[in-house]
Amino acid sequence: MDQVTAHYCGGGRLADAIADSLQSAGKDLNDLKAADLATVDEFHIRGRKATLELAGHMMLSEDTRVLDIGSGLGGPARTLAEEYGCHVTGLDLTQAFCDAAEVLSDWVNLGERVAFQQGDATNLPFADDQFDAAMTIHVAMNIAAKGKVYEQARRVVKPDGIFAVYDVLQGEGGDVLYPAPWARDPSISHLATPEEMKSLLADAGFKVLNVHDSTDESQSWFEAMMTRIAQSGPPPVTFQIFLGGDFPEMVHNLVRNLTERRIRTVSYICKA
Ligand SMILES: C[S@@+](CC[C@H](N)C(=O)[O-])C[C@H]1O[C@@H](n2cnc3c(N)ncnc32)[C@H](O)[C@@H]1O
Repeated sequence: MDQVTAHYCGGGRLADAIADSLQSAGKDLNDLKAADLATVDEFHIRGRKATLELAGHMMLSEDTRVLDIGSGLGGPARTLAEEYGCHVTGLDLTQAFCDAAEVLSDWVNLGERVAFQQGDATNLPFADDQFDAAMTIHVAMNIAAKGKVYEQARRVVKPDGIFAVYDVLQGEGGDVLYPAPWARDPSISHLATPEEMKSLLADAGFKVLNVHDSTDESQSWFEAMMTRIAQSGPPPVTFQIFLGGDFPEMVHNLVRNLTERRIRTVSYICKA
């Protein structure tokens, strides 16, 4: 197993572990909405809200076929399918995430509008111009060969289709503190700077329509989350389920990385 999948895949049997946690908290698995899973399946800063912001730029309808590159447990794919009725194909390097994503989609009756397969973002197993739109959320931070990711996205998205990117970038505040949720040490952390992103996307053939730096909002989002947790305790299921016992330290470092501008959260809306 490569280092990135080893970092993410936890102890295996992810869907069972998530089901156990939800049931212990009194949730009925037969009456779940996609939003009930958001604390574990929207695996990025600002969660479902950030996914919906990106989706708002993607010209989605029931006829749209979308690719989600690095789809994780499938939360963003299900959010798009549920809100817009589109079909989303998720691709992820971590097989355990793809397997769990299929199960979670069936729980919320979205199994027919989403599909997940294992694969590498730097070598997409899809034909040219196969998708109307694509997105990638908090994925390239684990990938050194980012140019390849964006070139592959450009290849599989139809001309004039939208490619939405939301990622963690290297900030101006110094070296990243580890462990972080995407890497326990720098060996699998590859953050681009905002300057590098501009040329990476342009070199891949995209026209950047909109850039949004959400670092301030990300910081406020964590502050609001900490207040909620202090008042009513943690949600029934969190990323700790697969990231393991040092997850609290990862969150602590993530908040410091954001506050000290060691990292920035930035999204790009691009046209193929
Ligand atoms: C932080 S998670 C984000 C998951 C999802 N995009 C979300 O926002 O919920 C990062 C994901 O990127 C995937 N990933 C990392 N490198 C990849 C690669 N080369 N190809 C495809 N997926 C990759 C990991 O397996 C993991 O699921």
